[in-house]
Amino acid sequence: MPGIVVVGMQFGDESKGAVVDYLARDADLVVRYNGGANAGHTVATGDLELKFRLMPSGALWGKRLVIGNGVVVDPKVLLDEIKALREVGVEPNLLVSRKAHVVMPYHKVIDAGKMAGSLGTTRRGIGPTYADKARRTDAIRVDDLVGPRFRERLESVLRSKLDELVAYGIVRREEDLPKYREEVYGEYSEYGRELRPYAGEAYLEVNRALDEGKVVLFEGAQGTLLDLDHGTYPYVTSSNPVAGGACVGAGVGPTRIDRVIGVAKAYTTRVGAGPFPTEIYDELGDRIREKGGEYGTVTGRPRRCGWLDLPMLRYSIMINGITEIALRKLDVLGGIRPLKVAVAYEVDGEEREVMTPFVSDLERVRPVYEELDGWEELSPGEWGRVARRGYGALPRGARDYVEFIEERLGVPVTMVGVGPRREDTIERV
Ligand code: IMP
Repeated sequence: MPGIVVVGMQFGDESKGAVVDYLARDADLVVRYNGGANAGHTVATGDLELKFRLMPSGALWGKRLVIGNGVVVDPKVLLDEIKALREVGVEPNLLVSRKAHVVMPYHKVIDAGKMAGSLGTTRRGIGPTYADKARRTDAIRVDDLVGPRFRERLESVLRSKLDELVAYGIVRREEDLPKYREEVYGEYSEYGRELRPYAGEAYLEVNRALDEGKVVLFEGAQGTLLDLDHGTYPYVTSSNPVAGGACVGAGVGPTRIDRVIGVAKAYTTRVGAGPFPTEIYDELGDRIREKGGEYGTVTGRPRRCGWLDLPMLRYSIMINGITEIALRKLDVLGGIRPLKVAVAYEVDGEEREVMTPFVSDLERVRPVYEELDGWEELSPGEWGRVARRGYGALPRGARDYVEFIEERLGVPVTMVGVGPRREDTIERV
């Protein structure tokens, strides 16, 4: 019993962290299964606001936190987050998979080069670390980092990577390699020592918890359209944020997943390059960006903003097997009237209900919009009061919006977010 996956239905930043944090109250384990420090999860409650990049979002509830094998771990970021939690009086009950791969300093330099330029990556070393994982000869796993043979492994990897290190100016020539190796070893062997108590066999613990009937939340990072296989390739990340990624990235079989909660923002945003059919180019896009605080949690880059895209959400429902939807940030659309929603795409004179994620197709599609009345702007305090009173207290236009989406998608919207705090989530019962 229940394995619950929380997955982003758009281009990431759907506020999955807030949904996971909300659900974590009733969970036993929270498991990250993909991505790395490219994610940015904000968790806010009362006056406390914390931003995590690697730590699973249930941290503030004191739950068992698991970083699965599908994650790429930047040890410095993780250790800093452990310290930040201790500073607010929370001792993280953390387990890091020994199978997870380690982001090394050269990965970040390589990422900041070619990939950052053409794909608009977050420069956190994500793509190069996953590339080394697939290459096998050049990878360092958590098991290596915390184990007794880290020095040997590092030596062999750096030798194998010499040409690349020279090409990126990380070392000038082969003779400089020993000095570089000692620098990296000095820093990373210390990280390994600090992380050793947290490293273990995550798959065992997660499967045992499921066997015992515990509630396990699988927390996806990024979103479906950024998935390496299913997103708008090549404008994607290098991991599998989709629900199936939870099985691979945590080591559980598909029969262990009982619910898949898709998280969508009431509008759409995208950071970095790539197609975005419902993007708004005029000052309305700027208004949504300012009201919604749509700036990257990790990089601070302004997010591109656009209308809600139902063909995209239908695609996400299909790829992830979504059983329910959490719709976030409804408050941001207050006062924007009328509201547009893309209900289909027109391509070559034909209407399509479901997005195809090929860049060449998306460049040609024309969204078919329907308009809804929208609702009035409310202050954060008013939204807080609405949240306390429940779904029925939402402005009529907001309920119409939710019910329109639900009806057009054929999947229930079970949660609605009207603000950033834990208290601003409304569950529909
Ligand atoms: P990477 O994951 O750093 O390789 O970046 C690849 C693409 O995914 C870029 O367009 C990034 O902006 C985007 N991306 C990566 N992580 C996130 C995220 O957590 N939210 C939104 N976009 C992201």
